Amino acid sequence: MTPGTRPMIAGNWKMHGLAADGLALARAVAAGAPSGPELVVCPPATLVAALAAALAGTPVAVGGQDCHAAAKGAHTGDIAAPMLADAGARFVILGHSERRAGYRETDPTVRAKAEAAIAAGLTPIVCVGEPEDDRLLGRAEEVVADQLAGSLPPGFGAVGGVVAYEPVWAIGTGRTPTEADIAAMHAMIRARLVAAFPGPGAMLRILYGGSVKPSNAKAILALPNVDGALVGGASLVAADFLAIAAAAG
Ligand code: PGA
Repeated sequence: MTPGTRPMIAGNWKMHGLAADGLALARAVAAGAPSGPELVVCPPATLVAALAAALAGTPVAVGGQDCHAAAKGAHTGDIAAPMLADAGARFVILGHSERRAGYRETDPTVRAKAEAAIAAGLTPIVCVGEPEDDRLLGRAEEVVADQLAGSLPPGFGAVGGVVAYEPVWAIGTGRTPTEADIAAMHAMIRARLVAAFPGPGAMLRILYGGSVKPSNAKAILALPNVDGALVGGASLVAADFLAIAAAAG
């Protein structure tokens, strides 16, 4: 944890949740929310408005999982950042590895989306993380440094943008890097943020993501420069998500 920052625990529901289940999950999270960390749930776009309404007045914020780089236009099937904001979202996940891999999103694409998010008043949660081959070749930090340099727009620091370090090979696999590897990567990210955003860079939140669960959350969240977690699978079970939130103290 970085002294002085408020930890964030964000749930990435991915493509899970019909209305009844999603509302029940969100309400259970709100009912059990501990007072310390900032909690965010990122449901499928179809549920953003309903959850924002249901969670109004609770400490749980709502985020989107992606947005387009344009504010509007002929982009069938896409969602613009102002639409997410209009629906009640305050955050948006960008550049998740599933989008980088499945939709060939590049660093410039992610950066343009982050600019659009900021222009719409959303706080971007920008994901970075190395594939396993790069980890094995000893290139993990280089790959992530390149992603940071290419994906974060100039306004990122001023709006309190959030970085999520998610090694691709740890997502949904039950595997995590060693604590030493997480700490080393987060220290590198902190140094890059401080250099890129003098002032706010020292306090911007750097989340860890990839197979975070109640049993490993406390140890991971205790590491220096780990200011919270981006949680996939475990965010779909209220008790698990709340146990992770409680570990953020
Ligand atoms: P996981 O996913 O917690 O299921 O590994 C994390 C993510 O993709 O954000």
